Amino acid sequence: MLNRSESKLPAAQTALNAGLTLALFVAVLFVVAGGLFFMKTTSSAPLAEQIKTLFALDSLQAWWYVTRAAGLMGYLLIWLSVVWGLVVSSKIFDPWLERMFTFDFHEHLSLLAIGFVALHVVVLLVDQFQPFTLEQILFPFISTYRPIWVGIGIITFYVTLLVTLTFYLRPRLSARAFRVIHYLSFLAYLGAGLHGLFAGTDSPLMAVELVYLFTFLSVVFLTVYWLIVLMARRREEEEKELQAALEKIRDRQKKRQKTGPRTSQA
Ligand code: HEM
Repeated sequence: MLNRSESKLPAAQTALNAGLTLALFVAVLFVVAGGLFFMKTTSSAPLAEQIKTLFALDSLQAWWYVTRAAGLMGYLLIWLSVVWGLVVSSKIFDPWLERMFTFDFHEHLSLLAIGFVALHVVVLLVDQFQPFTLEQILFPFISTYRPIWVGIGIITFYVTLLVTLTFYLRPRLSARAFRVIHYLSFLAYLGAGLHGLFAGTDSPLMAVELVYLFTFLSVVFLTVYWLIVLMARRREEEEKELQAALEKIRDRQKKRQKTGPRTSQA
């Protein structure tokens, strides 16, 4: 596995990444500006009114929509981070992608997931449709709204924070401690899935059900693949160790044959 210090990208690649991010930002600006221009030219209502209607800002449920969308994004990013971690560990992309890039990308996916879940949670504090208090957001199982499943979401958030924090504490942790904490990602993924599925308003929708099904099956498939790769790697190492031990024994026997049998002196 790579250390954080080893995972820095070369300057050219960093510049390319920055360029692509900037291009994406400019493209989004163009789309938004184009959309606003289109709205202005196709309707006689004032722009502010149109934006209010478009994003349902005049509805009681406006923030409820935002929190739901952010929750779904958070779930998808946690899923992608787990899937990416399994792909990196199984070395599937090694022929095409640099490990430095894949490792950094994995870390950034976790950070993005935390960003969206933070939005998901903070918005609940201002939402008027289903109001939450600070305590109900910080402590599991005390909310009035689907307490068990919301509680699982809160625990999942803490686990996700812990796992992401260990990316930065890695130099101070033993390899075993890092690995054990990192394996909690599986628990976080399952928690996020159960929380979303059973607390979510959108879960009965066919499209959302299919998203949960597809993401879950992809994690199961890649976990099985990763375990097979791990076992094959371990067997290979054991065989190498056995070969090395046999070589040593053979060397010793050859030396003994050269020096001949020892004669005992009375
Ligand atoms: C890693 C952590 C979390 C993830 C990935 C996550 C994700 C999700 C998802 C996918 C939904 C379903 C959205 C929908 O179907 O519309 C949802 C719903 C919900 N989550 Fe979270 N969540 C997390 C943590 C939390 C926390 C800490 C709270 C704090 C109270 C919370 C409160 C809620 C509530 C109240 C709903 C119901 C909203 C609705 O009706 O859809 N979640 N969450």
